[in-house]
Amino acid sequence: MVQYGDCPIHIGKGAFKKLKDHLKNRQNKKYGIFILVDENTGKYCLPVLLNQVSLLKNAEIIEIESGEEHKNINTCIALWNILSGKNVNRDAVLINLGGGLISDLGGFVATTFKRGIEFINIPTTVLAQADAATGGKTGVDLNLHKNEIGVFKLPSMVIIYPDFLKTLSRRDFFSGFAEIIKHALIADANYWKKIRQAQRTDEKGMLNVIRQSIVIKSTIVEKDPLEKGLRKILNFGHTIGHALESHFLGKPGVRLLHGEAVAAGIICESYISYQAKKISQVELNQITSFICSLYKHIPFKRKEEKKLIQFMQHDKKNRGADINFTLLAAIGKAEINKTCSVDVIKASFGFYHKLYQMSYV
Ligand SMILES: NC(=O)c1ccc[n+]([C@@H]2O[C@H](COP(=O)([O-])OP(=O)(O)OC[C@H]3O[C@@H](n4cnc5c(N)ncnc54)[C@H](O)[C@@H]3O)[C@@H](O)[C@H]2O)c1
Ligand SMILES: [Zn+2]
Repeated sequence: MVQYGDCPIHIGKGAFKKLKDHLKNRQNKKYGIFILVDENTGKYCLPVLLNQVSLLKNAEIIEIESGEEHKNINTCIALWNILSGKNVNRDAVLINLGGGLISDLGGFVATTFKRGIEFINIPTTVLAQADAATGGKTGVDLNLHKNEIGVFKLPSMVIIYPDFLKTLSRRDFFSGFAEIIKHALIADANYWKKIRQAQRTDEKGMLNVIRQSIVIKSTIVEKDPLEKGLRKILNFGHTIGHALESHFLGKPGVRLLHGEAVAAGIICESYISYQAKKISQVELNQITSFICSLYKHIPFKRKEEKKLIQFMQHDKKNRGADINFTLLAAIGKAEINKTCSVDVIKASFGFYHKLYQMSYV
């Protein structure tokens, strides 16, 4: 178990026992249990959960559609209406069974409904197990701006059951792996060595990797829960990553996953770190060759630069007119509140395309 603030994070097969004990302790309260799923976690993960925790067999299931385009206030309104229509009171608990979308959105809905009902996160993707389900950031997107509306609120517990990952698509698996790469680069050079050897098929190895990511994230978040300073190191790769994600969210028919955008963001922001003379050419090459071996090129054109920069200028981490970056000071070490010129940002896009031997026009 990893303890973060008042939120225990139970990992492995024994985790469901902790959930059962927790629910039993609440049983004399008159309350409803709701489980939030999307169509995939409803199909693949819910039967496993109900089988493991029979007490949940009478829980009410709420299903929403998967996809970042549904992470918005309209979906929240639909959920608030369901809870309100069922006369749910503050003794209720919402169990978020799914990826980062379910825990971000479900956490926000629970925290704001009647000024807050309890919620529990049971993450089912690599991304959510290693990152999104812990740390207390909840929220939704607004007008293509990522996580524009939201609150900090910890779940009452997090249950990490790695077997859920068996049904995850290869694409979603690697999307989540980008956050693990980020954790290693910002906090732990040895971990960086280890993840470069991690095999998707080696379950024990993957479990260790996820556990180490949880420890890195929890340690950082515990010191700075509201992101006043240190926690910003977790935003490495996300200034450019979120801009790409927002930009592609607005393009019908193109689907870019959060972690894929972050992987490209890590390449560009490593390049900016190199240009600021913070990391060496050797370090830059090591980072970019690993990421290029795992992630496909994201095609965007020079004429889209302006739009991308506009998204970055809107970023909530900015202070004043400057775009705020977290940069690498070395592999395993990050520095917050750095800025760079728009020309260097544009040069990082050119560098990104060149790496993949793509023209940038
Ligand atoms: N709160 C935070 O600290 C934080 C951190 C990182 C990312 N995020 C957010 O997380 C979201 C991305 O999370 P994600 O990648 O988990 O996305 P997601 O929740 O959209 O899940 C990805 C896909 O996997 C499917 N899926 C989930 N579990 C499955 C399983 N076990 N088997 C088969 N399919 C499964 C889902 O239905 C979905 O289609 C983004 O909105 C991002 O902004 C939040
Ligand atoms: Zn992220």
